[in-house]
Order: sequence, then structure tokens, then C-alpha cells
Amino acid sequence: MEYYLEERIGDPYLFTGRQQELEFFLKWIEDIKRRLSKSTAVMARRKMGKTALMERLFNVTFYKNNGVIPFYYEIKEGGVWMVDFCIEFFLTFIYQYMAFKTRKIEYLGSVEESSLETAKKEAAKEGLDYLIDTIESVENALEHGYYDTLWRIVRNAPKNTAYKKNEFIVQMIDEFQFLNSTVYRDKELTNLYTKMSGGYMSTAESKIAPLLVSGSWVGWLMNELRMKLPARFRFYFLGGLPVEEAVEMVFKYSRFQDIPVTEETAYLITRITEGSPFYISAIIRSIFPGKDIATTDGLVKTLEFETLNDRGEIKSTWMEYVSAAFQRVNDRYAKNIVLYLSKNKDREVTRGELLEKLKLDMNDAELETKLKALVRADIIEQGSSNFDYRGVQDNIFGKVFRAVYQKEIEHFEVRRIETEYRKTFAELKRKYRKLQGEFNYKKGYFAEYLILDQLRYRAREKNALLKSITHNLPADFEFCEYDRAWSYRYVPEYAAGFSVDIFARAVEAGNYSIVGEVKNRDKKKFSAAEVSAFENKLKKMKEIETLDRVVGFIFSREGFSEEAEELCLEKGIAYTADSRWLDT
Ligand SMILES: Nc1ncnc2c1ncn2[C@@H]1O[C@H](COP(=O)(O)OP(=O)(O)O)[C@@H](O)[C@H]1O
Ligand SMILES: [Mg+2]
Repeated sequence: MEYYLEERIGDPYLFTGRQQELEFFLKWIEDIKRRLSKSTAVMARRKMGKTALMERLFNVTFYKNNGVIPFYYEIKEGGVWMVDFCIEFFLTFIYQYMAFKTRKIEYLGSVEESSLETAKKEAAKEGLDYLIDTIESVENALEHGYYDTLWRIVRNAPKNTAYKKNEFIVQMIDEFQFLNSTVYRDKELTNLYTKMSGGYMSTAESKIAPLLVSGSWVGWLMNELRMKLPARFRFYFLGGLPVEEAVEMVFKYSRFQDIPVTEETAYLITRITEGSPFYISAIIRSIFPGKDIATTDGLVKTLEFETLNDRGEIKSTWMEYVSAAFQRVNDRYAKNIVLYLSKNKDREVTRGELLEKLKLDMNDAELETKLKALVRADIIEQGSSNFDYRGVQDNIFGKVFRAVYQKEIEHFEVRRIETEYRKTFAELKRKYRKLQGEFNYKKGYFAEYLILDQLRYRAREKNALLKSITHNLPADFEFCEYDRAWSYRYVPEYAAGFSVDIFARAVEAGNYSIVGEVKNRDKKKFSAAEVSAFENKLKKMKEIETLDRVVGFIFSREGFSEEAEELCLEKGIAYTADSRWLDT
């Protein structure tokens, strides 16, 4: 697949997982054509992967070119004059639309250097004359200083264009909560325009151009949507990555950044981060001097740095939330409340309990107001009823917060947090060892990644050995240099759930690429049916990645049934059960 819109994640291969969300939202986008999709708000704290997801949805939808036109716009924090905002918003739409219709991706990069005038000429050149009317009505509103009209026209441009042309558009607006806090009526940025989002009352009801908005300030966005756009949005909460995806991400980033991990530390990272892509990347990319995350001790130190040191990215990100909250809830009790909830984060706490335990000098209504503001600032959460509250359900936040404030409140030592980390890791380690024990081997819990490493780093050097422990390789086969050795997971544009464990593409065309399957946690032998299923995948991969010379490869820890071996021989698939493949 081609990636048209440049993704901020960097190399598109780094994007990992999100299978469930991609499936859900790609179907949601398909369903727009049947007018079934209702505007939806994706909620998750900062850096949970909303932008990564939306940009990928944009690219897949653009690539599929199947009747729904993607539009993506991110609202930035900080002040902007309404006119500048409207023009940028509008031109972004016009150029993304033109890029889609003409399939000329250059247009995706045109906004900054362009103007309404240029856009008009380009629309004419492309034969998209109907855009010219819209552009002219924008010019007209500008000339007369009709700012409300201006916003109405540009806001409705996607919907109205879809309507005129009998088309469907998905409007993705990232960081929607900033809409009412960044746009000013005047150039000097003194007069905030607070009715920006309200304009979406009817726009958001459109079934031909529904909205997919996101928000990092979950409490704030929910409040905005409930107050200003009641019943217009469904909420979708984006959580961390599920375990398998988190593991994949750890290995991918580790290899990409050249920061080694072991199977054990990879396991520990996925558990301690609870699958948060931000925490995972912050640990792997940490600037901690002398970082070594291939040992538990080094990992603990890196995590301590990230969460306890001012230069840690995790700490600074959380402190932005916290300071924003305390600005709004300027109160000496706020810290105690957050601390109390965070210490009791495994349960909900009532207002009554807070009043009593913290000896708060205020009445219930005052406390409620305070708590509401803290919920809106995302540093506590509403519990199951209006009376109940709980701490942010995130292990690491609690530690960051306590390290900063617990001392101030309770004369507590940061050392305690370090001890806690060590305890947590010791527990996790026990769990990992137990898992290993269940499978009765020391190595290879994540066998596919060890095999990928083998191909990436050692295959040429160990050519003779690896060939001798693998059956049925072609006579002229040699291990070679591979430009990428990744797992190939879930490529939504081809088929739901399509994935292969190993994909190593030979750098030189004359050499064999490898597509492989790894079975290591299954206690039964690889069956003939599984060989057939793999053969189908292999065919598909040849097609998708246009591979001429490729070998199918199966590693199965428990070996192969007789029929499976026969089938491998018949189909020319290489196979092995030799654990030396996992030696590093
Ligand atoms: N699915 C993913 N695969 C790999 N990395 C991811 C993924 N989602 C997020 N990340 C990492 O986390 C960072 C923050 O993600 P981003 O999409 O910018 O979060 P948000 O928009 O929610 O603030 C990205 O730069 C990237 O490094
Ligand atoms: Mg974002």
C-alpha cells in the first residue's frame, strides 16, 4: 500500500496493531455509503495513538479509493485568528479532496504555499469546476468581513460538496476540544470566538459526511460535546494496545531504534506500560544516560528516570496535565484529593469518604464542583455514579503524581516509589518465569521475534548451519541480506485479519525472500490443514508484495505431523522444528 498523507509516526512500518480499531472504523467508513454511520468521538489521553490511528485511516481510505473521500484536519492548541483558521481549514479540505479525485498526491502538500486564488486555478485546471463556486463564496464572505458566514461555509464545505456531487466524505477532526479555545475574532487575539463547535449541531448529523473527531482532554471534550452538541456523537474510548500488539510494538521499536531488549524485558515492558504506545516508545527512546533495557535492572532505572526525573518524557507529559488541572482548580485540597484517589485507585471513593478522610473544610456542593473540574482535567475519573470518583486507571500516573506531591503532603520519600517499581518487576518476573515453565523451555516465548533477529543479524554468517537444520529449502537457496525483517500484521486493505509472522525481503532481486509462520506455544504438531492455510497466505503475500523468488518457511516447536511434512515437501515449503533457530 502507498502512504499518501505523511504519517507523523515516521516510517509507516512502525505503525503497530490497532487491529480492533482499524476493523471497526474501516467498517464505519464503509457504512457511510449506506448512510449508517453516526458521528463519533474517539477519546484517549494524549499520546495514546489517536493521530496515528486517524492518519492511517486516512491513508487506507485514500488508497482503497472506494467511494468515501477522506478529510483529516488537526486543530492545534494556541491562538489563531479566525480568518487564518478558516482559510487553512478550507484549503486543507479542498486540496485533500482534489488529491483524492485526481489521484495526484502532490496536492496533499499544497496548503501552505497556496491561496484561494491558486486553489481556484487548480480546481479549474483539474476540471473540478464545482469547487470554484465554493471558493468564491469564501472569498465573498472574507471581503465583506462576514465571519460567521465564513465559518459556516468552510465548516459545511465537505458536507455540501458531498451533497452536490452525490459523494461520501469522512471528516476527521483531531483534537476537537480546542475548537472553542483557540480561535479569535480579531487579529490581536483578544476576543475568543466561543461558538466554533456549536456550529456543528447540524453538520454533525450529516449521514453523507459524518464526523470522526478525537480529543486528548477526555473530560473536557466530553463536557463540550454534551453541553454544546448533545446527542450528536457516539463515544469511543481508545485504550492501550492488547498484549500481542504491545509485544510486537516493543520488538519493532527496539529493532528500529537499535536498542536491544530480551524476551524477558520485552515481556516486562508490555506489562508495566499496560500497552500504552506512548509509554512503550518513551522507554525505548528514553534519553536516560547509559540506558540498557536488555536487563531488568537497567529497565527499572530507565523507568525511574522517565517517571521521576524532570527530563523524563513520561513525567513531563503528565505534569502538563496536572498543572493544567491545578490552574483550573486552584485549591489546596485538590492535590490531597488526587493523591487519595490515586492511592486507592483500585476502588471508587465517595464524596462522603473524601470529606471525612481528608477533613475537607467545605460542603458537599463545593466539593462536587471541585471534583467536576478535576474530572474535566483528566486527572481523576468519574465513578459509576454521580457520587463516586476514582483515580486515573494507570499505574504509572500514580507514581509520577505521588513522586511529585506526596512528599509535600505527607513527608514521604521518593525512594519508596523506586522500591515499589522493584517489587512490581519482581512479581512480573515471577509471572514470566512461570509462563516459561508452562511451556517447559527457557527461550522462545516470543519465538517469531528471535527468528526475525536471526534473519536480520546472523543469517548470512550462519548460512551453513541454518540451512542444515531446515528441511526442504530449494537447492540454490542461500540466506542473504534482508532489507526488512518484520512481522507482517493486519493489512486492512487486503483482508480482515490477514497476517504472517515473518516477512524478510531480500535486498537483491536474485535472492530468495522469506515468508514464514511460527508455532511455539502450541502443544500439538503442525497439521496438514495448517500447512494449507499457510500456503494460501504465501500466495497472497506474493501478490501483495509482488515477490518473485520467495520461500515459505514454517517453524514449529512441537514438530510436524506426517501429513504436514508430506504436504510441505509437495508444495515446496521449507520447515523446521530445530530450536537452534532461536539461539542468539
Ligand atoms: N499504533 C501504533 N503503533 C506504533 N506506535 C504508535 C502507535 N500509536 C501511537 N504510537 C506512538 O505513540 C506516539 C503518540 O501517538 P499519537 O498518535 O501522536 O497520539 P495522540 O494523537 O493520541 O496524542 C506516536 O508518535 C508513536 O510513536
Ligand atoms: Mg494527536
